[in-house]
Amino acid sequence: MKETKTYFIITYGCQMNVHDSELLGGMLEEIGYHQAEEMEEADLIILNTCVIRENAELKVYGKIGSLKRLKDKDPALIIAVGGCMMQSNEAVEELYKKYPQVDLIFGTHNIHHLPDLISTIEKERGRIVEVWDKEEGLIPDLPSSREDDKKAWVSIIQGCNNFCTYCIVPYVRGRERSRPLKDIVKEVTQLAEDGVIEITLLGQNVNSYGKDLAGNIDFASLLEEIDKVTGIERIRYMTSHPRDFNAELIEVINSSDKVCEHFHLPIQSGSNQILKKMNRGYTREEYLDLVKMIRQTIPEASITTDFIVGFPGESEEDFQDTLNMVEEVRFDSAFTFIYSSRTGTPAAKMEVQIAEEIKKERLARLMELQNEISLEINRDLLNQEVEVLVEGESKNNSEVFCGRDRKNKLVLFPKRKDIIGKIIRVRITDVKSFNLYGEIISV
Ligand code: SAH
Ligand code: SF4
Ligand code: F3S
Repeated sequence: MKETKTYFIITYGCQMNVHDSELLGGMLEEIGYHQAEEMEEADLIILNTCVIRENAELKVYGKIGSLKRLKDKDPALIIAVGGCMMQSNEAVEELYKKYPQVDLIFGTHNIHHLPDLISTIEKERGRIVEVWDKEEGLIPDLPSSREDDKKAWVSIIQGCNNFCTYCIVPYVRGRERSRPLKDIVKEVTQLAEDGVIEITLLGQNVNSYGKDLAGNIDFASLLEEIDKVTGIERIRYMTSHPRDFNAELIEVINSSDKVCEHFHLPIQSGSNQILKKMNRGYTREEYLDLVKMIRQTIPEASITTDFIVGFPGESEEDFQDTLNMVEEVRFDSAFTFIYSSRTGTPAAKMEVQIAEEIKKERLARLMELQNEISLEINRDLLNQEVEVLVEGESKNNSEVFCGRDRKNKLVLFPKRKDIIGKIIRVRITDVKSFNLYGEIISV
């Protein structure tokens, strides 16, 4: 074994997984590992997996298959697979049987055991499977290895109790468990002391925060507490459920200078019949009322969403309701997904699954309409000034810098020295559906 051991983590799925990977990295650093620059040179490779849709799973299998080559070259390499996909017995069996290159399989409820599991493998070699069926309270507070100095994820609630009929998350992430308010405030205060200026509060449904805690604590009161932390300039949160959003929360967001004017409110469908079958707990009319309430209080708010097309039983008429919802609300942007049947969820057993070609064709129509609207909305920003937290070089164009404005829009602008990690002002000079271009006004 080399003197310094190195790790490389590949993360699939949502921000919960991104954050979990930071915790996995943090724990490994405590037992002497360092992050490898390249996967090929790491002594330990971890895949943090996702099962939200079938293609997420296929990507993971493809990747594990390709790692065999590295394992053949270096049998001392440790390959570990964790995350949401590993909460399914079938996936674990498949991996264990067909992919002998995998040394360790762990789940979402026992990430804090990673250091022990790795130490055991280092000493004894052999293969280990440790997946817990159920959560055992909260995952304890863990050290974190963060990619960004200025932005940080803060977990506020784990799990989900909503059981939307298409969704696997409640089965792989367990029931809702809120972190105590004082622990969250302590973490945010520490982050601010370390120089972090933007935090994103994380949970599958942040609006459920506090329901399982003693006292009168809810998401609105948590935001009020975090708003008081000196040094934090921007507060974001994800994801919020439209059903649990209320006037009080909108008021708290409005009266805070730090909470950003961005509302990500996944709608999934514009058809009441489909929303009911999805068990989303709101109607199209209630969603529209919520949008109205937000825009009355915060006229400049951006509203973004998620859609699923091709849910079982979705007729052309239902889909038209989705399209006219897009026109009625005029979302700033939307993530659009093709329904993917997940074994074990109620929707997988529903009759009238929609043919793949129809799903694809609906997705294309939905995206076309949304992109047009996104472009129109962005055009209204031409010549306006926006506040941007500079991230660094754009992934798609190394000639320019990028960052997000308060509405979470991606802004590209010319490079300048010493501005990474700063909040600057940019005047918008050109727009596309997915991003804005501008010139720096002041830093
Ligand atoms: N907790 C969040 C969503 C997490 S999953 C919420 O309720 O808003 C992110 C998105 O993936 C969902 O909003 C939904 O649009 C999509 N999604 C979830 N399950 C899916 C499935 N089985 N097929 C297709 N898309 C799905
Ligand atoms: Fe899935 Fe619904 Fe929970 Fe979101 S709220 S994670 S879509 S079950
Ligand atoms: Fe995927 Fe798990 Fe997130 S299933 S979307 S990584 S909670």
